[in-house]
Amino acid sequence: MTAAHRAGALSHTRRWDTTVVQAVSRPGVLDLGPGYLEPELLPVDLVRDAYATALAEFGAAALSYGADQGNEVLRVGLAAREAAASGYPCGPEHVLVTAGTSQALHLVGTAMAAPGDTVLVDRLSYDFGRRVLTDHGLRLREVRLDEGGMDPRALHDALTAERVAGRHVGFVLLNPTFHNPTGTLVGIDRRRELLAVAALHGVLVVEDDAYAELGLDGTDLPPSLVSLAEYDGVIRLGTFAKTIGPGLRLGWLVAHPAVVSGLARRGTFVSGGCVNHTTSLAIATLVRDGHYDQRLDWLRSCLRERRDALVNALRAGADDLAEFTTPGGGFFLWLRFPPGRTEDELLAAAASVGVNAAAGSRFGTAGGSAIRLAYSFTPPGGLAEAAARLAAAWRPAAGPGQRRHP
Ligand SMILES: Cc1ncc(COP(=O)(O)O)c(C=O)c1O
Repeated sequence: MTAAHRAGALSHTRRWDTTVVQAVSRPGVLDLGPGYLEPELLPVDLVRDAYATALAEFGAAALSYGADQGNEVLRVGLAAREAAASGYPCGPEHVLVTAGTSQALHLVGTAMAAPGDTVLVDRLSYDFGRRVLTDHGLRLREVRLDEGGMDPRALHDALTAERVAGRHVGFVLLNPTFHNPTGTLVGIDRRRELLAVAALHGVLVVEDDAYAELGLDGTDLPPSLVSLAEYDGVIRLGTFAKTIGPGLRLGWLVAHPAVVSGLARRGTFVSGGCVNHTTSLAIATLVRDGHYDQRLDWLRSCLRERRDALVNALRAGADDLAEFTTPGGGFFLWLRFPPGRTEDELLAAAASVGVNAAAGSRFGTAGGSAIRLAYSFTPPGGLAEAAARLAAAWRPAAGPGQRRHP
């Protein structure tokens, strides 16, 4: 028996260092920066059992090259979830297994657009997703967004301007459900309006729905764009990164079967089959056997507790300092500061009290100072403490005339 066996299961904190994981928080810092789950929320035992189940059930087939489009167990399970969520039919032929949303963005960025093409994005949007696209030579054009999501009129104007300038548009990238970084949920009317504008211009929509399973208030969510469009001109991207763990590098896309089979014929899939076969079989057993739904229920309650701890503490201590809307799901709370506050000053004040947060400018043109706080990476007590520290650090020093009497 090896030392590793004698030691029992590895605790996840034991190897939480940059020789193994991508990033580590500075010691002692309350970290509201990362847009991913904290170690305690990552289901080590569940995933270990899922691999054991998949290997027992599929044997050597689990270690072979997988079916190009992804194994059918997972595609059937995901399609059933899509159909149940949207009320619109979805079958395994609509689903392609991907290595997570980043790989899927690379795939659509290379298959559906050519270097030099324009991609229209929300004025604020997931920064590393932008990177995937610009690395491929795509040109981003930011479109105005308001508290309801991307402004359809601004989208129409931007698409018109691109056409007049003779530039080809690859697609419009939207993140309509609990948007990163603003937390916005785009309502059904706005979804329809955006789809109508894209259809009018004959432009593909890519729907990045990374947080779609993480509604925290038990209310029904609007149907996905891909279902509203009946698979015509929309590709929807999903991922297990936010619901199980990003290290799985596992996701899927949903599109018209002709688009799915076209993508599955590309070299990446033909050479090597499914982009993450063994893991996709393990996770397929969780989806099929109901463990994924149980996990989601538990995770949503954990995230709800975290969101509420942060929101309540900010309302109590910082309500007059910054504006924010309580997010209905996802990982993020977006704080907007009045003119005169600079992002550098706000982040430096946060750092001086041992709190890390994400600069709003990372995500595009915020139009003023804004900060993103993630409630996914810190336990409830730490979030309440962080909010109290931030409120104190961000409160402008009272001038002589403003000093309050004790
Ligand atoms: C909107 C959005 N899309 C995609 C991703 C990345 O997904 P994946 O880990 O599956 O590549 C993130 C992660 O932060 C995200 O916020």
